[in-house]
Amino acid sequence: MMNQKIKVSPSLLSADFGRLAQEIRVVEDAGCDYLHVDVMDGHFVPNITVGPFIVKAIKGVSRVPLDVHLMIDAPWKYLEDFAKAGSDIITVHAEACGARLAETLDQIQALGKRRGVSLKPGTPISDIKTLLAKIDMVLIMTVEPGFGGQSFMPEMMPKIAELRKIYDKDIEVDGGITPQTGTLAVRNGANVLVAGTAVFRQTDVPKAVRDLKELS
Ligand code: DX5
Ligand code: ZN
Repeated sequence: MMNQKIKVSPSLLSADFGRLAQEIRVVEDAGCDYLHVDVMDGHFVPNITVGPFIVKAIKGVSRVPLDVHLMIDAPWKYLEDFAKAGSDIITVHAEACGARLAETLDQIQALGKRRGVSLKPGTPISDIKTLLAKIDMVLIMTVEPGFGGQSFMPEMMPKIAELRKIYDKDIEVDGGITPQTGTLAVRNGANVLVAGTAVFRQTDVPKAVRDLKELS
């Protein structure tokens, strides 16, 4: 029996961008819940990926909500662009917002989008504790953000468990997620799994999505 609690958000960073529409069709047909779009600016992280223009193109060929992970400095400057491009969940990094986090979350809400906050491995839950009521999803990074294909950090599990005790909304994990590491994350309280390599770099991509959805 499939566990309906688990949501799967394939990370397009590991997809073939030359045939993105087909890659999206395959994971959607396999039952993915969201599409995870990694936006990197070469400042907040040492890599550059896509901007609102590509998010808009993705929106045009997808039917599940877009889960947009902003790994950029001063994200408040670009929220309107990403909202207009068709993002459904907009996740900002707590480290990139600093004292402006509450205001940034209000801005996302005013744009009619779901509010996500991500924490790098070194950032504690205590940094966002007072703002949890304003956050629709917390994204716990299980690698240092910047690249796909890195190894999962099991030492993040107590952080997920600590958050789950005080937060009953979505807890997403991102970085090195496979059926094995995903099981560990789910048992500690995560319910949304991002996976790039473990989905798009597999010979049977639909099975890879289903295997993650069935974790418990
Ligand atoms: C890393 C990104 C991830 C990445 C995950 O900074 O936030 O979403 O694409 O890739 P895998 O699943 O290969 O670790
Ligand atoms: Zn991501």
